[in-house]
Amino acid sequence: MGTMDGEKSAIMNSIDRYAVFGHPIKHSKSPRIHRLFAEQTRQSLEYSAQEVPAEQFSAAAKQFFAEGGKGLNCTVPLKELAWNYADHKTERAQLSKAVNTLALQPDGSILGDNTDGIGLVTDLVVNHAIILAGTRILILGAGGASRGIIAPILDQSPQAMVIANRTVDKAVNLAAEFHGKGPITGCGFDDLKNRQFDLILNATSASLSGQLPPLPAGLLAENGNCYDLAYGNEPTAFVRWAKENHAAKSLDGLGMLVEQAAEAFFIWRGVRPKTRPVIELLNSERQL
Ligand code: ATR
Repeated sequence: MGTMDGEKSAIMNSIDRYAVFGHPIKHSKSPRIHRLFAEQTRQSLEYSAQEVPAEQFSAAAKQFFAEGGKGLNCTVPLKELAWNYADHKTERAQLSKAVNTLALQPDGSILGDNTDGIGLVTDLVVNHAIILAGTRILILGAGGASRGIIAPILDQSPQAMVIANRTVDKAVNLAAEFHGKGPITGCGFDDLKNRQFDLILNATSASLSGQLPPLPAGLLAENGNCYDLAYGNEPTAFVRWAKENHAAKSLDGLGMLVEQAAEAFFIWRGVRPKTRPVIELLNSERQL
């Protein structure tokens, strides 16, 4: 019996540990997603969720890695703190000024990456066959969520990208930061009158509280698509707006969530999980 326990704890200790830190974290789907990936790819690992308020982030991350943790996901409101915490960062993390994935490197240093933008682009382009090249794209909001998706979308060569925000200066300044990377401008919601877009992405936090930015009629081009970076068990306010405005596709951020997780899993494990079965499973559990 004693031997069994000894063996068991030896096995426990040898299992690679990962976690998601956030505040709040209770409803996070990340542990579920990563466990499904691990099962599917036959990787042996543990993935837990830890409630970590901003003021405790640095100490909690330090402790996690000191105790042998291999990698962390960081979500609201910790992504900027994780960006500061990382010893070095990928170029896409550098640009987005936010880190959602920390990975222990062989030399003991901590690499920071941001897989949100590529997760969104993969969901749009691969899962939903939405072409971004040559199209007119509108991003609602100019906060952290918007910043993280601009460069990966510009990489797809849209014809134009507009950032619209309630606080106009923030949109103009954010667009200015990315001027060298593509045809991007910033404006207020009032400036959207008489304009049309092939794809509208909602990156405001308004949706979560059931609110919508003021959007003029006719904003969405015929056969245009809408995507809310937020998701829920009910259609978000923006997804409802998309349907009312006859979007060809009215999507929410569940696919992006799974895709950003797959990219983090790849960074940690060097194995790419199949995302479609996981997205289908999570979708089947909510009756939208
Ligand atoms: P996140 O990291 O989720 O982007 P954030 O940095 O706080 O969070 O940014 C929230 C974004 O949602 C901002 O663009 C904000 O607009 P302001 O910059 O004008 O504050 C936008 N937002 C939040 N509530 C909104 C609302 N009710 N209507 C329109 N925009 C809203």
